[in-house]
Amino acid sequence: MLGRTLHVHDEVPSTNTLAMTLAQDGAPHGTVVVADRQTAGRGRLGRHWHSPSGKNLHCSILLRMNVPTARQPLWLSWVPLIAALATSRAVQTVAGLKSSVKWPNDIMIADQKLAGILCESSGLGTDEMAVIAGIGLNVNIRREEFPDELRAIATSVAIEAGRPWDRTALLAALLLEFETRCEAFLAGHHGDILTEYMVRCATVGQRVRVELAQGNTLQGRAQSVQPDGSLRVAQDDGTTTDVRTGDVFHVR
Ligand code: BTN
Repeated sequence: MLGRTLHVHDEVPSTNTLAMTLAQDGAPHGTVVVADRQTAGRGRLGRHWHSPSGKNLHCSILLRMNVPTARQPLWLSWVPLIAALATSRAVQTVAGLKSSVKWPNDIMIADQKLAGILCESSGLGTDEMAVIAGIGLNVNIRREEFPDELRAIATSVAIEAGRPWDRTALLAALLLEFETRCEAFLAGHHGDILTEYMVRCATVGQRVRVELAQGNTLQGRAQSVQPDGSLRVAQDDGTTTDVRTGDVFHVR
């Protein structure tokens, strides 16, 4: 059960970093690290994650799910997508807010980011493989409390719902949604998870610009999410590319 072992802290540098240390020390499947504040919260692509005290949810979930080595790469590709799906569903269940997922794992309301996910792993190719799913959900931060550079592009549950929400209730719902979908995926219901993800994914059908890891950019229409979790983009020159890693921008 996710959260049976729960580490709650007032302040840590990063819950992901602490969860990885615990994993390396043999912490069990389902260990969850939560911190009220992070002093060095980490985002995707080396970015910083704004993590002030008393406002938002910062949690990292350790998964050790006995995945055969041949299936581990697929599992690693899907954990971030499943975490995004679970986060979006939890916010809807608890606060009644509808959000969408920008591929691969940004949770958005309109064009503003509500939550982000950073997944990290160790022991790939061994029976000891561990995956850390780190989730940052903006819960009670008010618009004026965001730093200038985030004010126009980020949002929170409280901003959208017009009142504060209990972070513990959101965490509990998130753990339940995440656990159910991880188990379904590994039990062979890959197609159902893909369908559920696609229904929530605002990127599919959009014109996109994708900044690839190597510094290249491609532009076109996002056609679908593939069974391996990649984003299929039909480029303007008629070619099709399956993007595995990149920063996606919806363009009009
Ligand atoms: C992103 O760039 O969108 C991903 C942000 C992930 C932030 C969360 S907060 C909890 C966990 N600990 C971290 O240092 N990062 C993740």
